[in-house]
Amino acid sequence: MPIEVENLSYTYMPESTQSVAALQGINLRIADGEFVGIMGRTGSGKSTLIQLLAGLLTPTRGRVLLDGRDIAAKDYDRSILRRTVGIVFQYPEYQLFETTVAKDVAFGLKHSGLNHVEVTSRVRKALEIMGFDYDKIHNQSPLALSGGEKRRVAIAGVLAVQPKILIFDEPVAGLDPQGRYSFMQLTARLHQGGTTIIMVSHNTDVLSEYTERLVVLEHGQIALEGLTKDVFMQLPTHDHLPVAMSTAQEIAYMLAARGMNLPQGIITYDDLLFALKAKLGGGEEAP
Ligand SMILES: Nc1ncnc2c1ncn2[C@@H]1O[C@H](COP(=O)(O)OP(=O)(O)OP(=O)(O)O)[C@@H](O)[C@H]1O
Ligand SMILES: [Mg+2]
Repeated sequence: MPIEVENLSYTYMPESTQSVAALQGINLRIADGEFVGIMGRTGSGKSTLIQLLAGLLTPTRGRVLLDGRDIAAKDYDRSILRRTVGIVFQYPEYQLFETTVAKDVAFGLKHSGLNHVEVTSRVRKALEIMGFDYDKIHNQSPLALSGGEKRRVAIAGVLAVQPKILIFDEPVAGLDPQGRYSFMQLTARLHQGGTTIIMVSHNTDVLSEYTERLVVLEHGQIALEGLTKDVFMQLPTHDHLPVAMSTAQEIAYMLAARGMNLPQGIITYDDLLFALKAKLGGGEEAP
């Protein structure tokens, strides 16, 4: 189910003198199975955009189309949206409120029409995907878990719905390196399984390694958009944009400044490794 955004604008408190035009005239199409990153400085409109994509905010102007249908239309069946689009907010661990982990993970399935056995099987699977032993964890209080465990439970709650489109707002902020790595490996597996992933992040390394396409927002508009590699390549010529280069890209620039010129287009650690091996000899061919 592709998501299309047509001339989308959103203004907070439109009637007030303090109204904020958070998004202005956004056009975007996200095809089935894509992995799209959204970056941009704080306040550029990223969270507003994804809340509009998930139907949690209603556009001030323009439309969001899911599979060609306007999700804000009066006759639109919003249960399709709930089943298709899953959204994980930043710090989802603060949204746990049920008495047991299993109840929390099952929450999004309440009106799904699935019977008890099917719900339990979905909950078990989602918790196992997130690295838990279902039998050990399902009866525990979510409040007794660590921050990182709570976040994994909260994400399991979204996965249990098995949405075709998954939206994450800053999912790796505050995770330790191991937690970040396992979360990104999981996301990559979901993506390989055909799930569309839309990820807001300030972490340029994560975006450069995993996404296929990037959208850079600036003052509520799309400042730059394209294949991930192309967007990173263009960043140095857009120095008004507050978006950083990836670490591998920065290292390549630093080496060039010290006289070691590597080929253009180094964005990921693998790119850097292959270039260095080729330069220093004994290297493998780039893939
Ligand atoms: N509930 C709200 N009421 C009024 N203004 C808001 C509200 N939420 C966001 N804004 C404003 O809308 C603009 C876009 O905010 P948004 O939260 O979408 O930015 P963001 O890109 O997600 O930022 P961050 O990287 O800090 O999460 C900002 O100017 C912000 O102050
Ligand atoms: Mg935000």
